[in-house]
Amino acid sequence: MKVLVTGASGFIGHCLSEKLRQEGYNLVAAVRNVKKLKDIKNLFSEVRVVDFRKKDTIKNVTRDVDSVIHLAAHFKFHTEWRLLYETNFLGTKHLVEDAAKHKVEKFIYTSSTEAIGPVENIPATEDTPCNPSYDYGKSKLITEQYLKEKMKEGFPATIIRPTGVYGPRDKYVSYQTIKAINNGKLSFLPGKGDKYIQFTYVEDVVQGFVKALENEKSTGETYIISSDDYYTYKEAFQVIASILKVKPPEKTIPVWLATFIVGIIEYINRLKGVEDFVMHRSVVRDMQTNRVYSNEKAKKELGYKPLYNLRKGMQKTIQWYRQRNLL
Ligand SMILES: NC(=O)c1ccc[n+]([C@@H]2O[C@H](COP(=O)([O-])OP(=O)(O)OC[C@H]3O[C@@H](n4cnc5c(N)ncnc54)[C@H](OP(=O)(O)O)[C@@H]3O)[C@@H](O)[C@H]2O)c1
Repeated sequence: MKVLVTGASGFIGHCLSEKLRQEGYNLVAAVRNVKKLKDIKNLFSEVRVVDFRKKDTIKNVTRDVDSVIHLAAHFKFHTEWRLLYETNFLGTKHLVEDAAKHKVEKFIYTSSTEAIGPVENIPATEDTPCNPSYDYGKSKLITEQYLKEKMKEGFPATIIRPTGVYGPRDKYVSYQTIKAINNGKLSFLPGKGDKYIQFTYVEDVVQGFVKALENEKSTGETYIISSDDYYTYKEAFQVIASILKVKPPEKTIPVWLATFIVGIIEYINRLKGVEDFVMHRSVVRDMQTNRVYSNEKAKKELGYKPLYNLRKGMQKTIQWYRQRNLL
């Protein structure tokens, strides 16, 4: 089977492409910068250049493939709506139009549990009403809504919603959190640290994609891909700190004070042009809400079975960063 993987140069794309090649798929990469494929270029029988913000570059990118896994996205929490809308919504719409023209048999769209957003009653399921708190999640939600309309017209799409993902090669949310714990920058917990968060190891997320690709019944469906375990922020930071062999952030401070302090750091970072995911008032706000999502549907219908808990996945991840002097 010939599979087009968009965003193959990214964190998840890298791991997914390696797995699909191992499984014997004929892979075509769709990336905007071929150089970023670096050491995985040989996994692909062909590399197509596409910028999802430029409609003309999307034309015919899905020619002559059986399936598409669309990972490419502007994946940023603190960013402009214009970039999210153009890349995540319009880029996907143009790709779907091209895939429909070329009669692609399966189109897997990478959404996110951020399309659901924080939840009152955990765990959320695929049926939980969506209430995204970030523009990023909103861009995923409007794209899902567009795709669901196309599915009604017979377009063969599957929507995958991974939770926050961590693992080797990530340089964003989980890496910056691990780094902040390691260097003592995350030294206090805003509020009580008693709300729940869930992260899924990248190999488990990849397993979810492969199961969805290989199961005919996944067409027309939406699946949350998450780990079995979840933790309070305090517990999750303790797990990470114990692997790093540093003191975990345990001291709690009032939310208003944390918002004030982080607000100043956020302001200074903005002036300096520094993007530090952890030092944002929105992260203080997030830590007062729950983000836990059920993988029951994926287990039942796809045979998905996550193999990593946070400790096991973090051990591999931290080892990978250490071997590269990234911590
Ligand atoms: N990581 C997570 O925690 C997580 C959780 C849930 C869902 N997701 C979703 O999973 C997908 C992959 O995420 P990731 O963590 O692998 O992110 P990533 O490392 O930032 O990779 C994003 C990929 O999209 C490509 N891309 C961005 N803008 C593009 C454009 N205009 N044209 C062409 N390609 C473009 C990037 O290309 P360059 O290499 O050239 O930048 C990169 O290959 C995304 O859809 C993301 O929203 C991620």
